Amino acid sequence: MTITAAFFIALLILFGALALPYSAILTGASWLLGAGILALAYFRLRAKLRAVLIIAGILCALGVAGWNLVLMPWANQPVASEVTHFNPDGETGRALVIYHPGRSDLQERAVTGFVEGLAAAGWRVDLTTASAQAPAPTGYDLLVLGAQSYTWAPAQPVQDYLRRAGDLNDLPVVAILSGLGETGPANDVMRDLIAAAGGSMAGLYNVWQLRPIERLYGTDDPFAAMRGVAESLTLTGGHG
Ligand SMILES: Cc1cc2nc3c(=O)[nH]c(=O)nc-3n(C[C@H](O)[C@H](O)[C@H](O)COP(=O)(O)O)c2cc1C
Repeated sequence: MTITAAFFIALLILFGALALPYSAILTGASWLLGAGILALAYFRLRAKLRAVLIIAGILCALGVAGWNLVLMPWANQPVASEVTHFNPDGETGRALVIYHPGRSDLQERAVTGFVEGLAAAGWRVDLTTASAQAPAPTGYDLLVLGAQSYTWAPAQPVQDYLRRAGDLNDLPVVAILSGLGETGPANDVMRDLIAAAGGSMAGLYNVWQLRPIERLYGTDDPFAAMRGVAESLTLTGGHG
């Protein structure tokens, strides 16, 4: 095996390992390419074909590196903000809404719609972004988490918030997951995290940029969709 082939195989294995927590597909693709280069080096196939594969490998490795080392940290950067209070005289219960604002306004529109719906249903609502300074969900009757799906997992600041929150002691939790259109795996991660934190899943809702949500909520406007969901939210189990 040439030193060049060994170098690229090592690089692809490394990037595959870096992609592992985020994407089985990227990891698999990276390791498959490594295996392909290994096979070519072993069978000493024609130099041109080898060159094409090596260039493809470099592009792939750069793509995986860029995704994991630049795009993911950029998208997952926590944003700190003050707590905003809504409907302070509400008597239905106290709700805390924690969300990651992200790069577009999709999550914010969904979450503020949910807040408006809760307030209309008589909830006292506190709203803030997921950061180290966000309040713990102690003393609340409902926790609402708004997170983007970033590479098939909920936005990291919201995951971090849940881990920091400790035992939720059966607190009802609603999750709003936004994405381009593929939020299924992030939904599963969110359900697992809420269960692991001792929360009681009270609803999980998706809003998408590329897939219509009208079929789910009767409207394609994420604000109106989540306002409608919150207005008719019913909790069981003695909270709220
Ligand atoms: C690094 C990265 C990974 C993403 N992964 C997914 C994904 O797994 N599924 C999905 O539906 N959308 C994915 N998206 C799209 C975002 O979830 C979508 O644009 C979003 O809900 C709005 O995010 P934003 O507010 O940060 O723009 C991804 C976006 C970025 C930047």
